[in-house]
Parts: sequence; structure tokens; C-alpha cells
Amino acid sequence: MQGAYYKRTGCLLKADPSKPKHYFKVVGDKIQDFIKNRKGWSLLDVGGATGAFASYIRHRFGDIDITVLDCDEVLVREGRARIKECRFVLGDVRSMCLDDQRFDVTTCMGTIGFFDRFDKVIDELLRVTKKGGMVAIFTRVNDYPVDCLIRYRYSEDEKRLWHTGYNTFSRYSYEQYFRENKDVASSSFDKFSIPFDIPKSKDPIKTWTEICNGERLIKNAVMPHNFYLISIYKK
Ligand SMILES: C[S@@+](CC[C@H](N)C(=O)[O-])C[C@H]1O[C@@H](n2cnc3c(N)ncnc32)[C@H](O)[C@@H]1O
Repeated sequence: MQGAYYKRTGCLLKADPSKPKHYFKVVGDKIQDFIKNRKGWSLLDVGGATGAFASYIRHRFGDIDITVLDCDEVLVREGRARIKECRFVLGDVRSMCLDDQRFDVTTCMGTIGFFDRFDKVIDELLRVTKKGGMVAIFTRVNDYPVDCLIRYRYSEDEKRLWHTGYNTFSRYSYEQYFRENKDVASSSFDKFSIPFDIPKSKDPIKTWTEICNGERLIKNAVMPHNFYLISIYKK
């Protein structure tokens, strides 16, 4: 569909860096397993908004070399003002103005769902990652072999604008891409669950949790969310 867009600048500006999202910890644990006691490593967070994850990583791992890339000028400006120690780059994940093989770890959370093709995005994430490095992607994955392109709009919005952000690709498609990509040594899929309840808010696009058959579902007004942390290890 032409003209679908994403703009949640206001919502992301309000994110409280002193309350890291639960998945930041999960991704941080994965990075810890990979980095072990190595010093002087570098991280790129793609779609990193105002640097909430960058700030969490600095707090957890100390003074490492962190770059945040985002396409939203307002968020990048705010990030620069909030975290002086990190480098903020305004750019598009599909063609980043960053050198090849520059980072030990590249993360991309909550961002793959904006694109109708995930392969071009992951090609770029792998390009800027060093040989032997890791790419960590936090996103929705379909356990069934079906890829979904999703658009939504607020029915009460007078402009009736369509939004994107929830495209969901299958594990099958990701694994096929990893098998065919000469840069990928191996990959893993860790299913994400959340150990606490999230209440519903006024905005039905903001996620909440519901207990269903003893399981805590993460959902919003678009759909239930089957989140995974996908880790890709580069040759
Ligand atoms: C849902 S937010 C996730 C923010 C953060 N990664 C997190 O997990 O809290 C998605 C972010 O991706 C950014 N984004 C969307 N399309 C992008 C693109 N083409 N290139 C770079 N960033 C993009 C948005 O501006 C937004 O900051």
C-alpha cells in the first residue's frame, strides 16, 4: 500500500530511560554471553530513537563505543542532548552511511516490522557488523510459514492515515534467508515472554498483557505479539 507511514515520536520521547524495557535486559544478557569479558567493543543500535537502549547498555557494560542510528530527526536531536557519550546518526536502516565491518554488535529492536522486506534490512545490519560479530534483532515472528504485511489506522482519525510497524515474517523465511546468506555462520531464535503484567492504556496501539489459558499474552488492538530475539552470528 502506498503512503503508509510510522510516526510515534511523542510516545518515544516520553520513554523513561530509568525504567528499561524488559527486552532490553534479555538482549543485554545475549550480548553478555557473546562478549564475555572482552573490553573495548563497539555497539550500533539501529532504530534506537533517543538512546534508551544505549543508555541501558552504558549503565550495564560501562564506557563502550556506542552509536545510535534513527530516521526521526526529532528523536536523534533529543538523543544527542540526553546522552553526550554516544554518537547519534540520522539515517535509514536500508542504506546506512556507516563503514563496512565497523561494529562488534549490532542491535535492531522493534523496527523490522516497518518494512515489506526484511532481507534488505538484515543485509545492511550484517554489512556494518565485523566478521565474527553478532546482530541481535528483537521482533515479531510467525511460527507458521506465513509472512504478513499489516497496515492499521485509528478509525476515529479524521485523516484516516494508514500506519505500518507490524509486518511479521515467518521463522521459515528468516531461516531460509540465513541459510542462503554467505555471511551468516549461525543463528538462534529465543522466544520472548514477559514476567509481569502490563495494563491497558488509553491508546489501543500500546501493548498490554492478558492471561489466556494460563499463558501471559502480549497484545494490542492490531494483534497478539509473538516476540523473539533473533541472534545472527557473522562468519
Ligand atoms: C518502535 S520504535 C523502537 C525504538 C527502540 N528500538 C525500542 O525498542 O524501544 C522504532 C524506531 O525505529 C525508527 N525507524 C523507523 N523506520 C526507520 C528507518 N527506515 N531507519 C531507521 N530508523 C527507523 C523509528 O523512528 C523509531 O525510533
